[in-house]
Amino acid sequence: MMRVAILVSGRGSNMEAILRVKEAGGLPNAEIALVLSDSADAPALEKAQKFGVKTVIVDPKPYRKKREGYDAAVLEVLRDNNIELIVLAGFMRLLSRVLIDAYPNRIINIHPALLPAFPGLHAQKQALDHGVKVSGCTVHIVDGDVDTGPIILQAVVPVLTDDTEETLSERILDYEHRLLPRALDLATSERLRVIGRRVIIDED
Ligand code: GAR
Repeated sequence: MMRVAILVSGRGSNMEAILRVKEAGGLPNAEIALVLSDSADAPALEKAQKFGVKTVIVDPKPYRKKREGYDAAVLEVLRDNNIELIVLAGFMRLLSRVLIDAYPNRIINIHPALLPAFPGLHAQKQALDHGVKVSGCTVHIVDGDVDTGPIILQAVVPVLTDDTEETLSERILDYEHRLLPRALDLATSERLRVIGRRVIIDED
């Protein structure tokens, strides 16, 4: 079993999707050992506790704008808990080399767009404003830049004429909840090989 930490900042619906799959007997090679939040107010924390998962808050305030200092504090918690793989599930902070170098190809992120289109914040609004006919979601390996790392899985979601940011976000989220547990299963089953920018999936 690979010990996994899920990093969150807010609602935690993607985290919950993982915990539900695990509870239902999926993710046989993943042990969700920790949920770490940068905010004490994150609703994700209470949800994680309902599943009996350990939660830790690492408050960024003492580190002001120093990402490395904050990441070193996070790294200490991860090491104390023997974490081997990190899932960013709505963790709204950029990671510095401190974490990327400590977990090479061992950090995955979910993003609500078909990368490399619409990286960064408000991806669903960016897609609507651009007028694309399809958008979707991407699970990728985190490489230190904003939403640029090698892509593990993507799902395509239609954009409808009368969509608002809310309706499109909701439709994409439904796909996120299936994509992220699937990508986590592949990662924890050691079925991913990263060759340059490409992620090769070893099929069953
Ligand atoms: C999700 O839509 C996730 O894809 C997005 O934040 C939301 C978190 O929701 N992440 C990003 O935009 C990262 N660039 P959740 O807390 O309910 O999982």
